Amino acid sequence: MKTYRILGKNGDSIIQIGAGFDNLSGFPGGTKNFILTDHNIDRLYGRRFPQVAGVITIGTGEAVKTLETVRGIYEKLIALEADRSAFLLGIGGGIVCDIAGFAAATYLRGIRFALVPTTLLAQIDAAIGGKNGVNFHGFKNMVGTFRQPEFVLSDIAFLKTLPGREVRSGLAEMVKHAVIADPAMFSFLEKNWRAALALDPEVMEKLVHDAVVVKADVVNLDETETGERRKLNFGHTLGHAVEKTTGVPHGEAVSIGMIAASRLSVGLGLLPPADLERIEALLIKLELPVRLPSNLEKLLQALKKDKKREGEMIRFVLLKRIGETVIEEIPIEKLQSTIEGLPPSRESLKNRAESRT
Ligand SMILES: NC(=O)c1ccc[n+]([C@@H]2O[C@H](COP(=O)([O-])OP(=O)(O)OC[C@H]3O[C@@H](n4cnc5c(N)ncnc54)[C@H](O)[C@@H]3O)[C@@H](O)[C@H]2O)c1
Repeated sequence: MKTYRILGKNGDSIIQIGAGFDNLSGFPGGTKNFILTDHNIDRLYGRRFPQVAGVITIGTGEAVKTLETVRGIYEKLIALEADRSAFLLGIGGGIVCDIAGFAAATYLRGIRFALVPTTLLAQIDAAIGGKNGVNFHGFKNMVGTFRQPEFVLSDIAFLKTLPGREVRSGLAEMVKHAVIADPAMFSFLEKNWRAALALDPEVMEKLVHDAVVVKADVVNLDETETGERRKLNFGHTLGHAVEKTTGVPHGEAVSIGMIAASRLSVGLGLLPPADLERIEALLIKLELPVRLPSNLEKLLQALKKDKKREGEMIRFVLLKRIGETVIEEIPIEKLQSTIEGLPPSRESLKNRAESRT
């Protein structure tokens, strides 16, 4: 087991990677403990939950990430007589983690809480860093707080029951962590992609640890996202637009967004083309999509609505090389012409060659 510490303004967060769920030791005794989880996790793992005063179960999917769901949690906590000494443990994917953090940060102006992330994405991203919240009026993560969980227990064994598409979504975020800050982790992924796809426990424990270190280091420098933390948005500006316009799952959209941002970096003379080739090759090996949707106009319209847009400029996280980012304001018009003017990707060249044979 490896541990890592985030030093938050409102308290520290101890992250335990490779710890066994059955040896949950950080759960405080003598207080009223509660669990928040979703129906899937309750069905799969409920019988292994520790004894608590109450288990609150929510539904699944982005549609449950609302203030209505949080209201239901407050009502259950009140009915269960949760007072200021209560401790809430969120067990589940990023949605449970985001809701558990928000409910705990706001119920009685804040009760103690911790997270047991059960998806790869939650283990390397959603549970790390203290950002929580819910969607509001169709806007993602519009309402929320910054509050560090007391501990995060990441048991790699949970990943065994995770659907393949969810695993690949997490792997896309893992590639992002390596690309923005850790060239050695990127090389390790290049060598061990098969083991990663097969969820080899040793390889995954190392990768989850390295990805957590990337995110936690960034959070330690910039807990409330005023500067350094922005680089975590690499691949997400165009990725969100892809997600909105095509409906592909988040991780797959981020994969496409990373390729677009890397190609843009090459087009602007920042990134050596060989680095773009390596990123694209790794994403393809991890069975992630890399082709931009053909309807670029629609994509750019969605992008214009992106909250990161400031005037006619869009703030983009770009690459100087694998492991080093640079943030640039790009005029939206230049964005379109640069992307359109870029040479075709390996993937599209491959597809063209295949269609000729
Ligand atoms: N707070 C942050 O910093 C942050 C960062 C990234 C993402 N997020 C949020 O995370 C959410 C996405 O999280 P996610 O991808 O984990 O999705 P999710 O929470 O919806 O989980 C995906 C699905 O997998 C199921 N599942 C979870 N663990 C499982 C397991 N071990 N075995 C079988 N099934 C399992 C869930 O029930 C769900 O149906 C989004 O709402 C996003 O905004 C937050």
